[in-house]
Amino acid sequence: MSTFQAPKGTYDLTPPRSATFLAVREAIAAPLRDSGYGYIETPGFENVELFARGVGESTDIVTKEMYTLTTKGGDQLALRPEGTASVLRAALEANLHKAGNLPVKLWYSGSYYRYERPQAGRYRHFSQVGAEAIGTEDPVLDAELLILADQAYRSLGLRRFRILLNSLGDKECRPVYREALQTFLRDLDLDEETRRRIEINPLRVLDDKRADVQKQLTDAPKLRDHLCDACKAYHEEVRALLTTAGVAFEDDEKLVRGLDYYTRTTFEFVHDGLGAQSAVGGGGRYDGLSEMIGGPELPSVGWALGVDRTVLALEAEGIELDLPRTTSVYAVPLGEEARRVLFGVVTELRRAGIAADFAFGGRGLKGAMKSANRSGARYTLVAGERDLADGVVQLKDMESGEQGPVELAEVAAELTKRLG
Ligand code: HAM
Repeated sequence: MSTFQAPKGTYDLTPPRSATFLAVREAIAAPLRDSGYGYIETPGFENVELFARGVGESTDIVTKEMYTLTTKGGDQLALRPEGTASVLRAALEANLHKAGNLPVKLWYSGSYYRYERPQAGRYRHFSQVGAEAIGTEDPVLDAELLILADQAYRSLGLRRFRILLNSLGDKECRPVYREALQTFLRDLDLDEETRRRIEINPLRVLDDKRADVQKQLTDAPKLRDHLCDACKAYHEEVRALLTTAGVAFEDDEKLVRGLDYYTRTTFEFVHDGLGAQSAVGGGGRYDGLSEMIGGPELPSVGWALGVDRTVLALEAEGIELDLPRTTSVYAVPLGEEARRVLFGVVTELRRAGIAADFAFGGRGLKGAMKSANRSGARYTLVAGERDLADGVVQLKDMESGEQGPVELAEVAAELTKRLG
């Protein structure tokens, strides 16, 4: 193993690609901020119990993929594999739901950890931007979240994504369906592990990717036929709202999510240029999660979009984001005295809000101009002894190539004018 190697299943974000990640996070967050969602940040780890109870004891995430640790003090912690349970825990702890302003609408952005088999688009450390709307049962809220995610993706220029939509029913109708499904599944020819799954989490069996299993599932009872009237009406309303908003979706009754807390509305955003790991985002309603972790009844809905996969989706569509220049002005001093003077100018420009950088290390003109080019700066400032004696610096427009002297005292004003 090389000394300079990130742990398996992880990678570093380095410039210039890292700028795209920042822009993607910002593009997802912007519509949320503009729609009444407040920023929340929670610790990178939680008590294991929270995820075991929240995400579900029978899920792969909890049984196989959690990074758990015991502290020196004996606490059982887990690196967070997802954000929803943490955000709800934090909202309950801060009594946000008691402020008389439901739903509590929150957004977050951060790192998540799952011990998964690494492959393209699937990492052990990844990044999500998510939104949770806590404490209200209203199909308009489900629709709002779907519309905002769609808006975020479109603002990035993405086109080849699809929304898959389903309803998983509620605590009235899902248990009835679950039993009907179990009865059906128990008669099939399945391996031991799958038979165990029938007893713990039968809906997950529907998600089995193997052809010989899928073949046996053709006549499996359908959740759609078991939805109670309230769930049916709720789902129809969400669908109608999306249609009115012009947001396309596909009904997918096989859509079963990998977390146990979902009720009613569930959805996934998939991208057609990503191969096996095609889900760029997912979410849904989780009306029972608060009670599962010991809180009051708080019907809620949310989603999380994967930043890593969204960047891969951009690359798959050949989209280059129009990122703002990071450096507007690059200063190249020639000689000791010029270094002091130009560094003073750079500091003044920065204080005036102009993004400026400097050729450090006393390099020659040629090397320094190369760096100026690489920085993407629109203007360079060059000064040598003679310029200083004349009280000027040379200002060069890197786009037109034009160059001329500017009085030292006027540089900041001139650049502010030119940069608009
Ligand atoms: P999730 O579907 O497990 O849902 O994850 C959401 C997104 O995170 C996925 O669609 C994917 O883009 C990204 N993601 C998940 N695992 C990985 C991985 N190993 N490598 C790269 N990207 C990954 C949740 O986490 C729920 N908390 C979403 C939610 C919020 N539901 C309600 N509110």
